[in-house]
Amino acid sequence: MHNINELKNEIFQLLENATKDEVESLKIKYLGRKGILPSILRGLKDLPQEERKKVGKEANILRKELEDYFTKYYKANTTIQKSSSFLDYSLPGREPSIGSIHPLSKAMDEIIDIFTRLGFQIEYGPDIETDYYNFEALNIPKYHPSRDMQDTFYIENSDLLLRTHTSPVQIRAMEKSKPPIRIIVPGRCYRKDEIDPSHSPVFHQIEGLYVDKDVSFADLNGILSAFARDYFGTDTKTRFTPSYFPFTEPSLEMYVSCVFCEGKGCNVCKHTGWLEVLGCGLVNPKVFEYVGYDANKYSGFAFGGGIERFAMLKYGINDMRLFFENDIDFLKGIIK
Ligand code: PHE
Repeated sequence: MHNINELKNEIFQLLENATKDEVESLKIKYLGRKGILPSILRGLKDLPQEERKKVGKEANILRKELEDYFTKYYKANTTIQKSSSFLDYSLPGREPSIGSIHPLSKAMDEIIDIFTRLGFQIEYGPDIETDYYNFEALNIPKYHPSRDMQDTFYIENSDLLLRTHTSPVQIRAMEKSKPPIRIIVPGRCYRKDEIDPSHSPVFHQIEGLYVDKDVSFADLNGILSAFARDYFGTDTKTRFTPSYFPFTEPSLEMYVSCVFCEGKGCNVCKHTGWLEVLGCGLVNPKVFEYVGYDANKYSGFAFGGGIERFAMLKYGINDMRLFFENDIDFLKGIIK
């Protein structure tokens, strides 16, 4: 006589308190090839028919229950095993990742800091400008190439455009207050340029404007040379060559002695020893007329340069596209 119910109670009681190894041997003991349940099932043929039916049915149900129990048990325990085997307590901890300042912001901050110490105040203007501020009041005649549809993003059916330089803020600042004026204007500018290592349709400039009585080229030279020495290094030399901008007269380009070869001549400075860094000049009296300043009483100088170029020269970055691709290694300063 086999009492399957009793057997069942016995097994589940044992399983309940079993360790992992004990579960394994209980499985072999009851379900293994020579285990108790298979033996019972094998011995069914020797039982009287009535009993065979009853015991057979009960034994099969119990076998199924046990099989389910073990499947579930292993499923639950394999997961634990898997995850615990991935834990390597000897590994050093992971450093928390900390954000870094974008190289463009860094250059911008440094430049602003230098001019602030030289007595300049920060001024901002809108990215979306009118034709008047971006061109007309800056004495840029209608036929001037920088007004060409090729270079400027115009906003359809309006007088509006995306500013092509930070110079319109000169006009806005002078309309707002009387001299003396000593401002710098950092900001985003837009031009219809194809993207390449030295061009981007969106870029940044820093503008400067200094207006007072008796401002001369000596002031321009003094301030911009002091800036160059502070930003690029104390041995940096500056040089000015004639140029043309409708809003300055005379107009000049400022060059600094090459920061890579110290003026000896290399690939970056194309073996000239000099790098062009910004446009500048004495404010054209015609611009003073537009804002109602007395050109006989006041004079001034203005300058404007690309922040991308300043950052590239300072950090030795040779492709402007890197600023806008947001590659983490670049932003963290690994590629320099
Ligand atoms: N706005 C000029 C440019 O974008 C730069 C400039 C600014 C030149 C101020 C002279 C004076 O090229």
